[in-house]
Amino acid sequence: MSAHGQPVPMIASLSPPLSGIAEVPGDKSVSHRSLILGALTVGETRISGLLEGQDVLDTASAMRAFGAEVIRHGPGAWTVRGVGVGGFAEPDRVIDCGNSGTGVRLIMGAMATTPITATFTGDASLCSRPMGRITAPLALFGTRAVGRSGGRLPMTLVGAANPVPVRYALPVPSAQVKSAVLLAGLNAPGETVVIEAEATRDHTERMLRGFGAHLGFEDAPEGRAIILSGQPELVPQSVAVPRDPSSAAFPVCAALMVPGSDIRVPGVSRNPTRDGLYRTLLDMGADIAFENPRDEGGEPVADLRVRHTGTLRGVEVPPERAASMIDEFPILSVVAATAEGVTVMRGVRELRVKESDRIDAMARGLEACGVRIEETEDSLTVHGCGAGGVPGGATAESRLDHRIAMSFLCLGLAARAPVTVDDGSPIATSFPVFEALMAGLGADIRHAAAD
Ligand code: S3P
Repeated sequence: MSAHGQPVPMIASLSPPLSGIAEVPGDKSVSHRSLILGALTVGETRISGLLEGQDVLDTASAMRAFGAEVIRHGPGAWTVRGVGVGGFAEPDRVIDCGNSGTGVRLIMGAMATTPITATFTGDASLCSRPMGRITAPLALFGTRAVGRSGGRLPMTLVGAANPVPVRYALPVPSAQVKSAVLLAGLNAPGETVVIEAEATRDHTERMLRGFGAHLGFEDAPEGRAIILSGQPELVPQSVAVPRDPSSAAFPVCAALMVPGSDIRVPGVSRNPTRDGLYRTLLDMGADIAFENPRDEGGEPVADLRVRHTGTLRGVEVPPERAASMIDEFPILSVVAATAEGVTVMRGVRELRVKESDRIDAMARGLEACGVRIEETEDSLTVHGCGAGGVPGGATAESRLDHRIAMSFLCLGLAARAPVTVDDGSPIATSFPVFEALMAGLGADIRHAAAD
């Protein structure tokens, strides 16, 4: 929904070759973490390149509610004057995290070991998502939580007054759960240990170290153990947020689907825990060059050059790659629809509990566009239309999910008939400049007349 609560239907049509430079916004994961970690230091953290999408703005406002001073100085330029580990004040209002699972789950972790009480809520999408995966490990620290049935928001957390350190093996591959436990562990004495069987994005570990926390790593029977020494004094930092590979995925995939395209996407994070889509596109035969590899703000980055060189071929995505591309399956399934042959995505059960049930949302929308799909609880198979092209000519539901909306709009750029998305307003949560950026490349995406 838009700020006025009205859906914003959008339509994308067959486009001429895409060309130019796509300067995608800052990484959403790093943006949330820079605000939260800044709030947990004493002193001033400076942030450049912050994503100013609604999800991150909601986290900024939450940090203010917990007592930090958060100021915007110009586009992407922010400072956070923090209150220190254990210094969060009790908010005098409900914390509304909007659409953001990352925001709410990380903030719950950050407050869980401070003796304050806070109530969290969000939009209809967030209020339908499982929070038990967070409150279960937080309970081990001594945190109490009362929410709606099924462990859903709105939910009140009572922070532990005398937290104990925790050893927790993640039952699901989730960077949000891992991060919530590590952030809670900051204000517990001793060592908090999180063990993950599958590597998930490691921004929290990298940034905690950058802010001065002590982290060790060990092999454990259940996987890789991350060991955090509690009660560190975090030191304010200057954080340069790299550009988001998950947002870059949309212009990159659009260029790979629209014949004749040749675009550049500078300064994109190449963090190996985030690059599964790019490896998969290369497997499909894509022409993507990673130029000028370098380090920026503790993250590897590169300038991408992407050229359309022909129809891609379907692939089997190895299930062990799923965590490193978990947000990119919607756009990959669109690319798969335009490819020659079959693409099989297995081990993707987690897609069912994202901003929407992304397996169902993609399957129904692609079917409406004339694509053959098979799905199970844990997999999605897309039969590519190849040289014949995707028929299109249908409306897909975005279901309050930014990535579903952007994926179908990208499909419309290459389909035989235009593709409509019933509501494009969720795009503002992660990629507020999507429309302008895509128009700058030559994409034909417009607001459609409401029925
Ligand atoms: C994120 C972790 C992932 C991802 C989300 C961002 C993060 O969620 O889908 O968009 O910043 O930690 P899960 O932890 O639920 O896999």
